[in-house]
Amino acid sequence: MSLFIPPRPATAPEKRSTLTQRIALLRSGLGTFREGSYGQKMGRHGFRTLPFFKRRWIFTVRDPELVREVLVKRAEDFPKSGLMDAMLRALTGYSIFVSNGEVWGRQRRLVDPALEQARVRDVFARMLEAATVATARMEALADTGEPVRVDMEMTRFAADVIFRTIFSEPISDEAAERVIAAFEVFQGVAYAHGMLGLARAPSRILPGWGRARRAARIIRKAIDEPLRRRLADHAAGRPTPDNDILAALIGGVDPVTGTSFDGDELLDQIAMLFLAGHETSASALAWSLYLMAEAPDVQARVQAEADAVLGEDTPAFEHMKRLGFTRDVFREAMRLYPPVAFLARDCPAGDKLGKKVIPAGSVVMVSPWLSHRQAERWTEPHAFDPDRFGCPEGKAAMAGGYFPFSVGPRVCPGAAFALQEAVLVLAMLSRRLRFEADPAWTPVPVARLTLRSANGVRLRVFRRGEG
Ligand code: HEM
Repeated sequence: MSLFIPPRPATAPEKRSTLTQRIALLRSGLGTFREGSYGQKMGRHGFRTLPFFKRRWIFTVRDPELVREVLVKRAEDFPKSGLMDAMLRALTGYSIFVSNGEVWGRQRRLVDPALEQARVRDVFARMLEAATVATARMEALADTGEPVRVDMEMTRFAADVIFRTIFSEPISDEAAERVIAAFEVFQGVAYAHGMLGLARAPSRILPGWGRARRAARIIRKAIDEPLRRRLADHAAGRPTPDNDILAALIGGVDPVTGTSFDGDELLDQIAMLFLAGHETSASALAWSLYLMAEAPDVQARVQAEADAVLGEDTPAFEHMKRLGFTRDVFREAMRLYPPVAFLARDCPAGDKLGKKVIPAGSVVMVSPWLSHRQAERWTEPHAFDPDRFGCPEGKAAMAGGYFPFSVGPRVCPGAAFALQEAVLVLAMLSRRLRFEADPAWTPVPVARLTLRSANGVRLRVFRRGEG
């Protein structure tokens, strides 16, 4: 049986002018790779920085040993990069996603319990509500007979999940529209600013700065309203939900410092959870549906699994571990299209990685996109093959070469949460619907804050048994 090879950006020619390379980088982080980039241990690009045009290096690391060194063994020597700092702070303050050192340590100790496995189980019912709404919306869209922008639908679903699991209330349609549109603006500008930050160009003077800050304010306002309501109820001793993520964040006490998040910190952290938790899941879900549409045999197996495990029952937490093939489809989608395609780290003091000297001030980029497609580790690295995770070869490749949620101290604390919401909604959609590729459309993968399709993900959707 031949495997489906999904689209990836054209590789750059071996010789290309610096200006063309820079323009490609501004469009998408994936646009600068040459075919050889998928095999190398480490690549290097030089940038001239403002104001004195000194050279600054960016190292792209893909050798698994070096990846472990940067992300796990010597994570403190390679702190989270400040590239996106100015822009992200407008949205999330100095929250866990951008902070470093002891500030980050305290935040992480307070955020981890809010996303631990037990809590993920507690919020299952909230995820189910959102998945039920998303399935009903998709069924209604199928009935129109028009192709569906499944990426938009998955963004709406993931935003709803985050809202419901944090606040125990759904996001209104009107707020969802506003927030999703604002994220679109924010994401476009933030990425370009991050890349221009390689040349130390200050964000404030770049085009789009004002637009992105306005978008950030819209998002923060949507979060601030339910947060202030909850804090007021809490302070007044009125009954409030006790098993959602906000309850855990409000009630959390850092065992080291004995402190808790105050109101402003809560707003920053929730804005960050919203950013980190909805775009990423939405991206991976949209790619999963696209890949299933292009590989009907895989889709039929996901449907069969959903029928066998869920039947006509209301999905329950216990069903999740029996949806193993659905989970492998989602994992394979994240291998081919890792939502966070680049993990940027700074090298403030200068260092050595392998045999290479890393000058002080360089940026070290770890790229799941490149690592997940390395020919030496993966058989048919560009092909969609969810079965690879079940065989010994795939398991060996995964160890060290597969990290969509990163690894080490800054590993994604929302991984279990994301897997649960994804498996749940994919199974619920597959129980009712069939997705077909639209012959008039091919996705164009681009890496900005998350890896998405520049022209959206558009599929034809049918109720099962119809079409
Ligand atoms: C498929 C979905 C997701 C993927 C692929 C993903 C991936 C990642 C990756 C790669 C990082 C590390 C980034 C870096 O160090 O540069 C990260 C960090 C983070 N993620 Fe996720 N994530 C997902 C969903 C979520 C969800 C649902 C939440 C919360 C509900 C979440 C919360 C976070 C937080 C708080 C961090 C920052 C951790 C730290 O710096 O200590 N993520 N995620």
